[in-house]
Amino acid sequence: MSSDSRKIVVTSALPYANGPIHIGHMLEYVQTDIWVRFQKLRGHECIYVCADDAHGTPIMLRAQAEGITPESLIERMQQEHLADFSDFGVDFDNYHSTHSPENQHYSELIYQRLKEAGHVRTEVISQAYDPKAEMFLPDRFIKGECPNCGKADQYGDNCENCGATYAPTDLINPVSVVTGETPIEKDSEQYFFKVSDFEDMLKKWTRAGHIQKEIANKMDEWLEDGLKDWDISRNAPYWGFEIPDAPGKYFYVWLDAPIGYLASFKNWCDHNDHNFDDYWQVDSEAELYHFIGKDIARFHTLFFPAMLHGAGFRRPSAVYCHGFLTVDGQKMSKSRGTFIMARTYLQHLNPEYLRYYFAAKLGPGVEDIDLSLDDFCARVNSDLVGKVVNIASRCAGFINKRFEGKLAASMSDDSLNQQYLDASSIIADAYENREFGKAMREIMALADRANQFIDEKQPWVGIKHEARHGEVHDVCTIGINCFRQLIILLKPVLPKLAEQAESFLNVNPLNWNDLGNHLLDHAVNRFKPLMTRIDRVYIDKMIEASKEAEAREKKITSQNRDSSIEAIDTEINYDDFAKLDFRIARIVEAKRVEKSDKLLQLTLDIGNETRNVFAGISGAYEPTTLEGKLTVMVANLAPRKMRFGISEGMVLAAGSGDKEIYILEPDEGAKPGMRVR
Ligand code: 2FM
Ligand code: ZN
Repeated sequence: MSSDSRKIVVTSALPYANGPIHIGHMLEYVQTDIWVRFQKLRGHECIYVCADDAHGTPIMLRAQAEGITPESLIERMQQEHLADFSDFGVDFDNYHSTHSPENQHYSELIYQRLKEAGHVRTEVISQAYDPKAEMFLPDRFIKGECPNCGKADQYGDNCENCGATYAPTDLINPVSVVTGETPIEKDSEQYFFKVSDFEDMLKKWTRAGHIQKEIANKMDEWLEDGLKDWDISRNAPYWGFEIPDAPGKYFYVWLDAPIGYLASFKNWCDHNDHNFDDYWQVDSEAELYHFIGKDIARFHTLFFPAMLHGAGFRRPSAVYCHGFLTVDGQKMSKSRGTFIMARTYLQHLNPEYLRYYFAAKLGPGVEDIDLSLDDFCARVNSDLVGKVVNIASRCAGFINKRFEGKLAASMSDDSLNQQYLDASSIIADAYENREFGKAMREIMALADRANQFIDEKQPWVGIKHEARHGEVHDVCTIGINCFRQLIILLKPVLPKLAEQAESFLNVNPLNWNDLGNHLLDHAVNRFKPLMTRIDRVYIDKMIEASKEAEAREKKITSQNRDSSIEAIDTEINYDDFAKLDFRIARIVEAKRVEKSDKLLQLTLDIGNETRNVFAGISGAYEPTTLEGKLTVMVANLAPRKMRFGISEGMVLAAGSGDKEIYILEPDEGAKPGMRVR
């Protein structure tokens, strides 16, 4: 490491351990990973730490729904998350958990120090409580009608329809998402962090270049509105760390989550013989950067710096926010199949395509990034396959076949390679400033020059003339050297491609400093295609698979709720719906089916004809009580041969099965045979 080497610690936001990683998450990890890889390539010490955010109500409830302990849920999630990150080439130096001894230690330490310095107070407050589940409800666990626009099924904090924000108590007809009960208000004592004690410090910090200007403007608004004390406690039952000396009270997940950065770093130090304090003490010379999404800026730019400062730790050098990911110009959508899980992506496409596309779109600001699927396809094919890899494939064949796999001992003209070296400082600055889109444009412009050079020199013509073989060798050596330089420049973005290229080039792992060297009189390996074109078919398959994955995930999370309410299944289109022919039917006769404890045999009158239908409703009805009732049936279902006879349709009933079944009865006036629409 050189004497001007920097000591840098980098974090990405800690993903919640209650669900899988999706490509929206991946935008941030790829952004951070590129920046970290760039720093390492430049020879700096750069330690990238992260962890699963393993506490809080949603995790507790998901574990309950799955019938497992929170410990085993977070253990499984951590493995799944790590596999996704690793397969996307996201290379953490340490990946830990907020449910760890280190995190408990630092959470308690920071809390105790804040308390001793008088920055914590208690107050009895009234909060929504589910009397059936016997638990206090977070805002997201209360649903009801929006007080502003009246739209049903809105969360307790804001309306997805009209965007209004409000308190859960403002909802009309609120219900607990956990049990469906109407929440009541209940008093309890809570612990508050007095953020306003740090107002002056935060005002100065905001304007001292630690945050992007858009976020600094937001901070100004928050500061102008006045800083409210922050509730850092939650009542049992809660999945988290119990607050010392406060039985039954737990640290709110957002208190211990960012402390997870310290915990993961401490865990790394302990395994790598480094001194934690060198990086986290107030006068540390190390740089510390947090990469996050703009939605969680407030926690990272207000609460966390105040907590760190109040507890005698250094504050971050900078917090870098990015925007959200949209797909084809719209919010990622589960029903459209654009809410794509990392694993689903990996099952269909090369992760480096997406790493490159994100890099090409990322800038230093907080604007949203759009993954336009057609553009994604076109850009990857044109830039990576058509430009970069093409240089190697155009030159390697001649080198392998005609020059015994060896590059020439010298180059007639190294001006092209020199241009690459000259451009590298602009590219380095762009990487450093998170202007990855600019870096990619510069790099592709360099690739264009190499391709133009090869076009002009036409080695495929020269190779036909023995006398021009020296020239062809020269052109291909220049071309391969250009390719080698491109690979160095792209290495932060495309680590796998770089590894394969290094193996083809027969060289040790390349560093930024290698940009100034040439590869001459050197044997390369046989060239194998390094990257193939994206076929749009695979993107479409991925979208279809995402729709299916979503339906499965919904089934799991819906078990949180009243068990009689199942998740809504996969969306169908109107044409599918229009095919269903529902009819009013009179139950003329109902009798038990021998050797079946589920089925009743029904004779149904539907106006012009009668139907024989076997219905799984025997657990709920005494057959004779049904006779004479009107109900609804699907009349155009193809007849089905069953063990007991042929069933000619289906009656509609609500409920989850067994005893909990309710047949549908039409209102007065309906007649057998009427169409239901
Ligand atoms: O918003 C989230 O997904 C949180 N789990 C991020 C936590 S970041 C840090 F504070 F831990
Ligand atoms: Zn609304």
